[in-house]
This record gives sequence, structure tokens and C-alpha cells, in this order.
Amino acid sequence: MVEDHILSARILMVDDEESNLELLRRILEPVGFKDLRDTSDPFQVLPLCRQSPPDLVLLDIAMPGKNGFEVLAEIRQDMGEEEYLPVLVLTSDHSPDTKRQSLSAGAQDFLTKPLSPAEVRLRVRNLLQTRFLHLALRDHNRHLEERVRERTAELEEAHAQILARLARAAEYRDDETGEHTRRVGRLSGAIAQELGLDPEEVSLIHQVAPLHDLGKIGIPDDILLFPGPLTTEQEQVMRSHTEIGGDLMSGSGIFLLDLAEQIARTHHERWDGSGYPLGLSREEIPIAGRIVAVADSFDAVTHRRPYKPAWPAEEGWKEIAGKGGTDFDPAVLEAFTNVLRSTGLNVGDQS
Ligand SMILES: [Fe+2]
Repeated sequence: MVEDHILSARILMVDDEESNLELLRRILEPVGFKDLRDTSDPFQVLPLCRQSPPDLVLLDIAMPGKNGFEVLAEIRQDMGEEEYLPVLVLTSDHSPDTKRQSLSAGAQDFLTKPLSPAEVRLRVRNLLQTRFLHLALRDHNRHLEERVRERTAELEEAHAQILARLARAAEYRDDETGEHTRRVGRLSGAIAQELGLDPEEVSLIHQVAPLHDLGKIGIPDDILLFPGPLTTEQEQVMRSHTEIGGDLMSGSGIFLLDLAEQIARTHHERWDGSGYPLGLSREEIPIAGRIVAVADSFDAVTHRRPYKPAWPAEEGWKEIAGKGGTDFDPAVLEAFTNVLRSTGLNVGDQS
């Protein structure tokens, strides 16, 4: 009894003697195999396999012009491992060498002539069963991989959404639309890319730069929204947003949040060491902090705030560029200038 899906398998029979091909037909047809193909020309095996791939090849070894081992090597080279095409060698050569050579060349099984019809049917059935199980497993794996890809994309989207909304919460009191945080994210990502940072790092900086001012959540309204210069005491409170933000995002062990923490803590540090909260200088300031410092400052001067009007982009660029080597990393400023220039702004040295 052979299962229906096995009987529909395509079997390619290869033997230089027509009478052997006829014998195989007489063995396989009566049990119901429907798709039997054959050739007595070993040179036709590969073209036939390519034209309509078989599920099983029954292969003679001693053939004129090209022997079974050569055909086997051709098939193995042409078909990917993924295809798992079984080959059953049928030969009248009883020597152990031939058997060993067949199996090591990639045949799955070996039968010697004269053939026993019952044994041929049994081996054919077993090999086809193995092939179909293999294909089912391969399809199942592909399906699983596809599902993992879908779930990963969903998770990444969820992360991005949560970060964007968290950033918006941080800015909600003084920037209801969240536009400032988004612009700082975009500009920071563009500067990071221009600096030649790893694409994954560029994407992470783009995603978490909007959280730089998350700590403003902890700053009272009367200071955060004060429409004028702050007193020294108020300024101290305002400056604490760097540490509040850093504390809020610390300790998760998640790289994305660790980077967000780093940016929150260092985006007001200055290249010459005169910034806050730690007074770090030059390369002591992580590159992400140096980038966001430029992007944040530029966005602040080019957009309206309760205490100041918006400046045109060119004016904003001059203001920021004038602080290279004092407030900002000159290399980051150069990348920033290139980014602005690529958007069509007439800034920087055009030579
Ligand atoms: Fe800030």
C-alpha cells in the first residue's frame, strides 16, 4: 500500500538499456506510480532535471559516454542541498567499491541487478517518503522564519512608537506637537550618517535622540515655561533635566535605552568642558551626546521659544558654527554643515 501523495511523485529513470527502463516501468506502474519519465541518454539527465525537477532519480552506473558517477556529480552540483533530491543507484556491478563510490558521491541508496520488484518498490517508497518529509520540514521552517520576521517587525514598530510617544510626553508642556523632538531626531540621524557611523548606530541615534529632554518631565511649570532669563537658582533646577532624564532611562540593560540615557546626560556638555552636568570635554563626551548637542541647539535657535523668536536657518547655522571648538565638536559641526548644505542651504565654505 503506497500513499497517494507518494504515487504522484515524479520519478526519472536513467539506464542506457531500454529493456531495463521497461522493467522498471513494469515494477512501478502496477502499484500506481503516475509520473514516470525515462532516458537512455546520460547527457539528457541534467537538462531533464532542470526542465521538470523529479522527486527521485533511479540511476544506472555503467553507461557509455558518461557513467552514473559523473551524472550523480552533475546533479549534486546543480541542485541546491535544500532540494534534497534522492538518487537510487541500480547496477549490475556487485563490487563493494562501486557501492561505496555511489554512496560517497551522494546516492541515497543502492540496489544490484537483477532487481527484486518488491525491494525496488520498498526503496522507492522509503526514499520518496523521506523526500516529502524533508520538503514539508523545509516549508515549515520557511513559514516559521517568515513569522519571526513579521513579529520582529511588529516589535520594532512598537519600540519606535513607544519611544516617539515618550519623547512627546517629555515635550508636551512646551512643544505640544512634538515637532522639536522629531526634528532633533532626524537631524541627529543625518549628522551621524554624514559622520560615517555604522548604519545601525545611525538608526538608533535617530530613534532615541528625541528623548534627550525627557527629564523635563521633572521640571516645574514655573521654571520650564518662564518667558525670560532664569535666575541662577532656576537655572540650576532647569539643568537638572539632564540627570532626571538619565535616571529615568538607566539600568534597563537594553542598548536602546542605555543610548537614550547617555544622550540625556550629555547633550548639554560642551567641547571645551564648560557644559553640564559633569563638565566633560572633547572625546570624553560620547559621540551621540556631541551630535545631539548640535542638532538640539540648531533647532532651538531656528524655532520660536517663549523667550525668543525663530531665526532663519542660515542665521542659525552661523550662530552654531561660531561655537566650533568651544561648545561643539568641530568634526560634528562639519558634518552638520554638510547635512544643511545637502538640503539646499547656502552655508559654510563652498570651495
Ligand atoms: Fe536639554
